Amino acid sequence: MNPSEKLAPGAPPPADFVPLIVPEIRGNEWQYVKECLDTNWVSSVGAYVERFESMAAERAGTRFAVATVNGTSALHTALLLAGVERDDEVLVSTLTFIAPANAIRYAGAWPVFIDAEPRYWQIDPAAVVDFLERGCRWDGKELRNRTTGRRVKAIMPVHILGHPVDMYPIVEAAEKYSLFVIEDATEGLGARYRGKGLGSFGHAGCFSFNGNKIITTGGGGMLVTNDPEWAARARYLTTQAKDDPIEYIHGAVGYNYRLTNIAAAMGCAQMEQLEAFVQAKRQIAKRYRESLASVPGLRFPEEAQWAFSTYWMYTVLIDQEEAGFDSRALLRELGACKIQCRPLWQPIHRSPAHDPFGSPACPKADALHSQALSLPCSVGLSSADQDRVIEAVTHFASKQNMPVKAR
Ligand SMILES: Cc1ncc(COP(=O)(O)O)c(C=O)c1O
Repeated sequence: MNPSEKLAPGAPPPADFVPLIVPEIRGNEWQYVKECLDTNWVSSVGAYVERFESMAAERAGTRFAVATVNGTSALHTALLLAGVERDDEVLVSTLTFIAPANAIRYAGAWPVFIDAEPRYWQIDPAAVVDFLERGCRWDGKELRNRTTGRRVKAIMPVHILGHPVDMYPIVEAAEKYSLFVIEDATEGLGARYRGKGLGSFGHAGCFSFNGNKIITTGGGGMLVTNDPEWAARARYLTTQAKDDPIEYIHGAVGYNYRLTNIAAAMGCAQMEQLEAFVQAKRQIAKRYRESLASVPGLRFPEEAQWAFSTYWMYTVLIDQEEAGFDSRALLRELGACKIQCRPLWQPIHRSPAHDPFGSPACPKADALHSQALSLPCSVGLSSADQDRVIEAVTHFASKQNMPVKAR
């Protein structure tokens, strides 16, 4: 068995491995968490929750933030705030982790999968507009999918890999058809679109502090919004919709989605280091790009002129014809060298868990999926480990490209 196949997701890999992406804990985490333990403020209220929320709102450039137990629950809550109901439809990126599509199903609605654009690999705004204009009809008060007849209620663009989506055309199209926009910015903390933090362009934005994210609370999430009613409703729904805390009267079916003070304490300490983490990620990206530039068939992630990317998950494309090998061959080779890599997610329109009925075709996401490979890119990746990755890729590529006789 290839050594990398033994690694359990989320578990720290053995010391001789170069891990794909692991947390960096080197600030005030111990001190803040200890303070929670020492004072007994360990549960779902506390000063750290409030502080973490204000730090997140400030970062996103929104008026409000509500901490949640993870990013998926923030997405689910945002859909409820938008009034997404059973049998509604929500447009969502197909080339992303499965959580946003799952959140749409939790609300009883159906995802409509939208293709990626080939340059920055994000949801294609032109495909969004095309679907709204040609794939839907306006029945006088609502927009309906021509194929399914269902009401289209919202758009959920997902900023993947630390690079922003081109938001303006999406926001403009949403305004035209009175749709809500919920940004899945779970991979986008620290990135900017046209100079502004992600999460502030839609009606709500959602972040994740899962273990592989740029900052982590072990597990955690955040919903940001500028709307005071949405913020209040989010707080209500995520705390079991409690109307009377003495008599325990509940006005709706709520959820236990709140983040603990312990997790928020860690979040505050991590947030204090965000700028340094972003710089570290950008430095790793620069180093890979420069050192691997001469490998034939390798394509590097681009940063749009309107974007500031964190390069959260450093991902390259491999053009098999030019390189002489494909992304999965490189994955196996690096795994054998104890270097942990990962392909991108199966595009969700292909997932057995979801039904693509009523979605437009997504050929570009399929192509990106077959070519992509994410390389180790932890904030704390040492320069020796970067060298190890660079040498392994270069060595493998040079073997594949040698004339057959010389092998
Ligand atoms: C694009 C995307 N959306 C949603 C999530 C869900 O976040 P969480 O794992 O915190 O629920 C993640 C990451 O895990 C993600 O990468």
